[in-house]
Amino acid sequence: MPEDNLPEITIPWLQKKKRQKEKISALTAYDYPTAKIVDQAGVDLILVGDSLGMVVLGYANTIPVTMEEMLHHTRAVSRGVHRALVVGDMPYFSFHLSVEESVRNASRFLKEAGAKAVKIEGAAPKRLKLIETLVEAEIPVMGHVGLTPQSLYHLGRFKVQGKERAEAKKIVKAAENLQKAGAFAVVLECVPMELSRVITEKLEVPTIGIGAGPYCDGQILVFHDLAGYSNGYLPKFVKRYAHLHDQLNEAVRAYVLDVQKGKFPEDKHSYHLGSGVDPNTIAEG
Ligand code: KIV
Repeated sequence: MPEDNLPEITIPWLQKKKRQKEKISALTAYDYPTAKIVDQAGVDLILVGDSLGMVVLGYANTIPVTMEEMLHHTRAVSRGVHRALVVGDMPYFSFHLSVEESVRNASRFLKEAGAKAVKIEGAAPKRLKLIETLVEAEIPVMGHVGLTPQSLYHLGRFKVQGKERAEAKKIVKAAENLQKAGAFAVVLECVPMELSRVITEKLEVPTIGIGAGPYCDGQILVFHDLAGYSNGYLPKFVKRYAHLHDQLNEAVRAYVLDVQKGKFPEDKHSYHLGSGVDPNTIAEG
């Protein structure tokens, strides 16, 4: 039973939310304390995104992220979550070789890391076949189209996808194909809001937008962007709800000054010898 007695979020429940025109909230999380905060705050879906490569591991992009790194972080998140649906992101080259290896990798998120589903970028024909196979193997899949960061070298740089008619039509088709292949939801990343509106109206499964405007069935952001935990470049679609980087920076500076000036620790942060033990006697040999 979940800690707060709220029911655990299930895939049918998310899909019902779409039918009832209720919005779905989603966020990334990569560790236990953050997962607890996000879960207890009432977020419906927590994605352990491969964005962790950039956000918490310091890689330049998501390409180097490994299965072991994803599983390690997904386990930590799962330990902190009681209500939200945890989705593990399949990293680059974990689903590109044989179907057998891809299914085995996907199953590890469920069997070893506590995720309830996986996310896979792209909707090429082979990818769709794989999603069908995963769904047949009882592994729920969330699709992801529009800007797919694992295609970075192919795309050249991160930029809005589907601004022109032909490209927009391709993305509509891709989202429809993902639904047909059995995806339970589709992430739309960095696409014009008019396009995500068309897709959201066409699909029966929920669309979860990031940089895709207000018409999606749900929204997702990277936790560190929302929390202002990093001070680097932020895309236009991010809304910052806190300034953790600046607050933590200030806190650590204050600590350094306190230590330098002998202001920390004070008596209240320290322990004392037992009553009757004379400190002068304990230095004696
Ligand atoms: O890796 C990630 O965090 C993602 C979200 C941005 C959707 O794929």
